[in-house]
Amino acid sequence: MKVVFVGDIVGRPGQEYAAQCLREMAELGGADLVIANGENATHGRGLNRASAEFLYDAGIEFLTLGNHAWDQKDTELWIDDDARVVRPANYPPGTPGRGYTTCQVKGVPVMIVNVMGRAFLSQLDCPFRAVDQILQEQSGVRHIIVDMHAETTSEKLAMGWYLDGRVSAVLGTHTHVQTADERVLPNGTAYITDVGMVGPNDGILGMDRVGVMHKMMTQRPARFQVADGPRQFCAVVLELDDVTGTAQSIQRIRRVES
Ligand SMILES: [Fe+2]
Ligand SMILES: [Fe+2]
Repeated sequence: MKVVFVGDIVGRPGQEYAAQCLREMAELGGADLVIANGENATHGRGLNRASAEFLYDAGIEFLTLGNHAWDQKDTELWIDDDARVVRPANYPPGTPGRGYTTCQVKGVPVMIVNVMGRAFLSQLDCPFRAVDQILQEQSGVRHIIVDMHAETTSEKLAMGWYLDGRVSAVLGTHTHVQTADERVLPNGTAYITDVGMVGPNDGILGMDRVGVMHKMMTQRPARFQVADGPRQFCAVVLELDDVTGTAQSIQRIRRVES
């Protein structure tokens, strides 16, 4: 089973480049499942309905979120009705939406889970215990992709090792910078600290650098806008055993427009 997971898609430039790369890049062709992190898809902040529809049309079948999940006001109005969108599972009970979703791929159930780390982010419930509970509830599922949306390398590595042998992949998102540490852990879980992003390459994490620098240097609020210019595309390609769900390989993909 071939699974493509695309990193945080930033703004309209990111949406359009993700669509173009999914169409053009041979490495991404023939995927059985395409997932992307969509937390920055709408103007760099959150995911509105129109952005979700654009990404579905581009061939992305499931969208995960993160700390920007609620930045677009309309999201909580439709998220309960769209099982293709997954927000961090460790938000408090009663939060709109779902922390995991399941689908059928090649006749077997596949689950997509989103959790968020707590270091330098909101103090949500424990992400480790949140995943434990989901795995207990869905004990028949063997093909499991976990998007671990977190700031620190250590928290993502801890999740990777904690789940090694229990899920197919632990894929880090949120920092927007792809890390070169992709590997299959000893018990068969594919891991990368951060998949990277899709969007403007010459900004700061996809946003226009002038506003970001202004905020840092003046300590006053600034309007952040999605940057212009050449874009980058970051993703990973996973090969999973069709029966056991064990990861056979993880390949890191990064393409930059010239
Ligand atoms: Fe992000
Ligand atoms: Fe994030």
